[in-house]
Amino acid sequence: MWCPHSIRSLFIVLSGVVAAGQFAVGEEGHYTAKEPSRDGTGKVYMGREISQVVGSHAITWLERRDREGEEKPSLVMENLELKPTDVVADIGAGSGYFSFLLAPLVPQGKVLAVDIQQEMLDFVEGQKKLKKIANVETLLGTIEDTRLPESGVDLVIMVDAYHEFSHPREMMESIVKGLVPGGRVVFLEYRGEDPNVPIKPLHKMTVKQVTREMEAVGLEFVELRDFLPIQHFIVFRKPDNIATTQ
Ligand SMILES: C[S@@+](CC[C@H](N)C(=O)[O-])C[C@H]1O[C@@H](n2cnc3c(N)ncnc32)[C@H](O)[C@@H]1O
Repeated sequence: MWCPHSIRSLFIVLSGVVAAGQFAVGEEGHYTAKEPSRDGTGKVYMGREISQVVGSHAITWLERRDREGEEKPSLVMENLELKPTDVVADIGAGSGYFSFLLAPLVPQGKVLAVDIQQEMLDFVEGQKKLKKIANVETLLGTIEDTRLPESGVDLVIMVDAYHEFSHPREMMESIVKGLVPGGRVVFLEYRGEDPNVPIKPLHKMTVKQVTREMEAVGLEFVELRDFLPIQHFIVFRKPDNIATTQ
């Protein structure tokens, strides 16, 4: 299981967040506004308040040694069932902790480490040189657009990231465009249904909420595998005949 000290560290990490812009009611069709919660943006999507973005000062926490013991990322890798030729996009890659676990599993493919913070991508580039791993590519996205190549990605993974996307609808539409038909989206989010997971509510998600938001962009629910200590592992699929927005 996880060490309570690290969870306390998460609270500290989350208290120093990237400043979020003021959101006005009616700014965008899919969103409404409310009084912001303590670590929230006040922007609401499908009944869920979007959290603030974790800044690059959190790199040390993301790279912490006891992460394997706490969150079992090696089990995540086993459950992804990747092919050596797959192209994987790690959206909200942060320090690239997951990108570098994924890279050896796709030796003839590659990992696109996507983030909106250049500081995060600079760290990934540094790690790439240090670890001598060639098949990780960094990609600077925008808050609305992953900039993935169209129908160019077999699998998208998002680890503890989606809940802080300021434009989840536009991000998911961009992800759907980037996936090959039949491509998968894998979510890892802290379990929102479980009061024993000691994470602030806006940084957790329920299966029901994730599924609603994915179905809204035309993705199909495939399965929930709850083998992780504190996170959900939820899989969706892009149908072969989906109509994507331009
Ligand atoms: C809590 S960190 C998680 C990092 C990494 N997935 C991990 O688990 O180690 C969330 C990351 O999502 C990124 N992020 C937030 N909004 C984003 C967006 N619209 N597109 C891409 N990345 C985004 C943040 O910059 C941050 O690096």
